Amino acid sequence: MRILRILICGAGVLVALSAAVFAGTGPHTLGSVSSVTALENGIRILTTSGGTEEITALRDDVVRVRASTGASLPEDASWAVLEKSRTASVPVTPENTAVTVGFRTQSLHIEIDRKTLCLTVRNLDGRILQQDAQPLRLEDSAFRIAEAMPADEHYYGLGDKTGPTDRRGRAFSLWNTDAYHFQESTDPLYKSIPFFMSFRAGTAVGVFLDNTFRSSFDFGAESATSYSFGAADGPVDYYIFPEPAPRAVLETYAWLTGKPPLAPRWSLGFQQSRYTYTPESRLMEIADRLRADRIPADALYLDIDFQDRNRPFTINTKDFANLGEALAKLHTMNFHVVAITDLHIAHAPDQNYAPYDSGVAGDQFVHNPDGSVFVGPVWPGPAVFPDFTRTQTRAWWGTLYKDFIALGFDGFWNDMNEPSIFKTPTSTMPLDVVHRIDEPGFRTRTAPHAEIHNVFGMENSRATYEGLLKLEPNTRPFVLTRASYAGGQRYAATWTGDNTSTWNHLRESGPQLKSLGLSGFGYSGADVGGFAGTATADLLTKWLEVGAFEPIDRDHTEKGTGDQEPWVGGSEQEDIRRRFIEARYRLMPYLYTLAEETSRTGIPMMRPLFLDYPEAATDKHPMDNDVDNEFLLGHDLLVAPSPFPDTPDAYSVEFPTAEWFDYWTGERVEPAPRNPHPDPNAPRSPAELVPLATDVHPTLDALPVYVRGGAILALQPLVQSTQETPHGPLELHVYAGSDCRGSLYTDDGSSFAYKRGEYLRQSFTCFVTAECLTIQLSAREGSYTPWWKEIRVVVYGWQPRHGTVRMDGATNPKVERVGNTVLFTIPASSAAATLEIE
Ligand code: GLC
Repeated sequence: MRILRILICGAGVLVALSAAVFAGTGPHTLGSVSSVTALENGIRILTTSGGTEEITALRDDVVRVRASTGASLPEDASWAVLEKSRTASVPVTPENTAVTVGFRTQSLHIEIDRKTLCLTVRNLDGRILQQDAQPLRLEDSAFRIAEAMPADEHYYGLGDKTGPTDRRGRAFSLWNTDAYHFQESTDPLYKSIPFFMSFRAGTAVGVFLDNTFRSSFDFGAESATSYSFGAADGPVDYYIFPEPAPRAVLETYAWLTGKPPLAPRWSLGFQQSRYTYTPESRLMEIADRLRADRIPADALYLDIDFQDRNRPFTINTKDFANLGEALAKLHTMNFHVVAITDLHIAHAPDQNYAPYDSGVAGDQFVHNPDGSVFVGPVWPGPAVFPDFTRTQTRAWWGTLYKDFIALGFDGFWNDMNEPSIFKTPTSTMPLDVVHRIDEPGFRTRTAPHAEIHNVFGMENSRATYEGLLKLEPNTRPFVLTRASYAGGQRYAATWTGDNTSTWNHLRESGPQLKSLGLSGFGYSGADVGGFAGTATADLLTKWLEVGAFEPIDRDHTEKGTGDQEPWVGGSEQEDIRRRFIEARYRLMPYLYTLAEETSRTGIPMMRPLFLDYPEAATDKHPMDNDVDNEFLLGHDLLVAPSPFPDTPDAYSVEFPTAEWFDYWTGERVEPAPRNPHPDPNAPRSPAELVPLATDVHPTLDALPVYVRGGAILALQPLVQSTQETPHGPLELHVYAGSDCRGSLYTDDGSSFAYKRGEYLRQSFTCFVTAECLTIQLSAREGSYTPWWKEIRVVVYGWQPRHGTVRMDGATNPKVERVGNTVLFTIPASSAAATLEIE
């Protein structure tokens, strides 16, 4: 008899226990508290079933829960969590009652029910932040944790899962999967990020299940009152981190699993790719045309056909006879070139294929259980797979990049690393393929593929990143990976894999990228224009418009589809597309400032609205649930593509606060309550005033973008590539409003000199009264000398009475009024400055 589902937490009673409860293999729990040991940083519980549970505080706001069915806990090691965070600890105060055991930190109460072992997390006011709905359920090697699901709680994260960013009501599996032309219903996808945030009435709780086996998350698909998560095998090991706001949850997640490295600036430029630009002359044609048509661009990609018979780290010298010269030429044209380097090494014994030969010599490939090397078919035909969980194999992999770096490639693309394997129903290796773990912190041991599968792609991208750093210690590597795990943001940017050239996928890409940002990957993109199929001209135009405001802007398409470059479809379409790519380049100082913020804090460049405005709605529900089509680029830009982009229908754009400007015209938007009262003079409750909205009538050549009133944005003159020095002043666009501020970060864009102080950071504030607009520029921090000698200030939404500017220590600049703006230019200086405009 297997009845356990009726165990309920919270009441402090066990409602029912089956005979199988302690039998070991059937569904069972760990029983009740048998004894408790107080630890300096938490408690260890021995349970009546002979199991162990340990709850410790890493920080006052971060607790870790580990449990096992035996007397000892599982191996304390992690691919995701940084050693210094995993071993962090704060003292706690024991708190035991007749019913519960537990402790208190400076911000949380942790209670374990003595009878059920159910966990309740409260804040110091006693408010329940998270509460087990059932005791931990175990069955064979699997486990499941169920939590109470309040009606107004929302769930975010799990990487690039499709569908609405709010995961409530749906269930997901995490198992890295090559999901060619995935659809909204496709699950699992390429990445496994077992981290989510629950969000309720302005407060948020992060939960990270650090388990690399196949895991699953059910946010109310099965039950209307509880959500649950668990894994098929592996340790019960998870972290809970309640925070006062969702941003703090992401910062704490970054504290646990790391931040993305600062991206090289060129990778923020427009990137043009296809499977494959071949032969070499075609690649050069694309480069020439981008420059001739004055479409700003920074990167070109070479996909698998540039290789000899799809063998990684080789060159198809028939089609690419002078690749070194081509790369040198492209560099003079200010392009960077990214090469694909898939992980599957061709199984090519005795063919002088160095990656295979050196790999075999060093025993670098994963084995079958019988000790032979595992061989599976992928692009090159039969292939072997590096054992990336070995430090030594990663180091060997890194050396494979030496010749490609010498040849002139600038970035690398790790694809197919779920790992994808053809001609097998599972699309991957058998679960019993043997990996060897040789990694500081871990016991040196073998592990089945079932344990390593979800971290394989991450360790592949790590090997690439670390290898490149070793080869060129003063160059920021650019690595793009398809598969990854929690923490993979430390090594590579990512994209959403093989989407399709359909309007639905354009619509899908926004929530997918917002979700990746909520899962640690602040630097990501979707194939602009769509991968599978040929985009219509209008779709490509609209996608290029939206892509211009996303962290990675890479146009990519599949082999055999129609051309997908910005000029395809005629000059009218091209003119629109160019205008948007130009807008991206004009915004480069803002974009780069955001990239630096991401690398410093873990807050993504592209954000859901609730991340920055968690209390926008009067009832504090997340705005994104109403307008998932909208997203923020940084704190100050709100981008609002149509929620149904294939139709000409008007739609409503909702704003989280009252003051916004149209980015394109500089005009103030006058948002009105979305649900206007029939009688305009009738008194209205505050709830009736939000959300503020404006109606948009979509056209092909326009994308609604808004700037927060109070923003100060840094822009630059147009360039054709980030390598080009802009001519003219830096521009500070000041949108008069409350909470008026902005910031700027820059450096050389490619090296690590910034870590030695060679950067520039400056912040700006403004203060508005009817008579005077005061703008303050902080002193510059850092020793980097920027390209600008002057700053052009452009003010929106405020008109001076006299048209004068007072600036301490400098000649007063002349004020111009152009349309709705006020403009003047000041000399740039590293000292602080105050400007008073009257
Ligand atoms: C995979 C990738 C795609 C790439 C293709 C060929 O499908 O997701 O981006 O173009 O392989 O390498």
